[in-house]
Amino acid sequence: MSGEAKVGAGVPRSKITAPAVVALKRKGEPITVVTAYDFPTARLADQAGVEILLVGDSLGTVVLGYESTLPVTMEDMLHHTRAVTRAKPSALVVGDMPFMSYQASTEQAVANAGRFVQEGGADAVKLEGGARVAEAVRRIVEAGIPVMGHLGLTPQSVLAFGGYKVQARGEADQERLITDARTLEAAGCFSLVLEGIPARLGATVSRELQIPTIGIGAGVQCDGQVLVSHDLLGLFHGHQPKFVRRYAELGEATRDAFARYVADVKARRFPTDAESY
Ligand code: KIV
Repeated sequence: MSGEAKVGAGVPRSKITAPAVVALKRKGEPITVVTAYDFPTARLADQAGVEILLVGDSLGTVVLGYESTLPVTMEDMLHHTRAVTRAKPSALVVGDMPFMSYQASTEQAVANAGRFVQEGGADAVKLEGGARVAEAVRRIVEAGIPVMGHLGLTPQSVLAFGGYKVQARGEADQERLITDARTLEAAGCFSLVLEGIPARLGATVSRELQIPTIGIGAGVQCDGQVLVSHDLLGLFHGHQPKFVRRYAELGEATRDAFARYVADVKARRFPTDAESY
C-alpha cells in the first residue's frame, strides 16, 4: 500500500465538480469517496487525493454515539458540513440529507438542500430512496444543486427493513432497484450510491447507467467506492460489515498514546525541563 498509495497525494488539483465526477466514469477511472465530519479529516483525505468527501449521516453512529442515523438533525449535519468545507478541499463536498429533512414534502426537501449549500458550503447533497424521492430530486436539481442518489441498504429505512440486511437478493427486488436507479438518473442525479446489494446487481446497474455508481458493499464493478472513514481508519469498533477494509488501526494507536501520556504524568516524566517555561 505505502509506495503506491502516495502517488498523486499532495499534488495541487483544481476543484472537483459534479460534471467532473461524471467525466471520470466516461474515462473509466474509479472514483474515490470517503466520509468526513471534521476539518482535519477533510484536509487529510483531500491531500491524499480523494475525489468526494461525503458528510454522511453516519455521523450519528460513528461520531455522536447514536445507535442509528435516525436521530441526526439538520443542525448536526450543517455543523459538521461547515467544519469540512472550512478545509477548502478540492474534493467535491456532498452533504447527506438526514432522516425527515426531505420526506415530508418536496418543498421541505428543496429548502433543506438549499441550507446545505448556503449555510454549510456543500457542493451537492445526497438523499436515500428510489421513485418516491424522484420528484424531490428533480426539484433540487432544478434549483441548481447536484444530487447524489442512494439505493439498496439505505440506513434511514432500518426500521422498515427490520435491521441492516443485504438488500435485493430476489429477482423482483433486483428489477425494482434497477428501475429505481433509472428513475433517479432521469430525475437528474449526477451519481448513485449502491449499498449492501449483491455484487452482480452492482455491476448490472453500473453498466445500465450513464452516471457513476459509488459502491459500499456492492462489488468491485461499481464506478467508485465509498467507505466510512472511521471504519477505514480503525476508529470504530461497533459492528463491522464484511465489506469494510481497515487501512489503519488508529483506535489502538490512540488508546496507546493516551495510556502512555497517563503513565508519564503519573510518574512525573511529563513535562520535562525542555517542555517547560
Ligand atoms: O452516511 C453515510 O456515511 C453514507 C455512506 C455509507 C454512503 O450514507
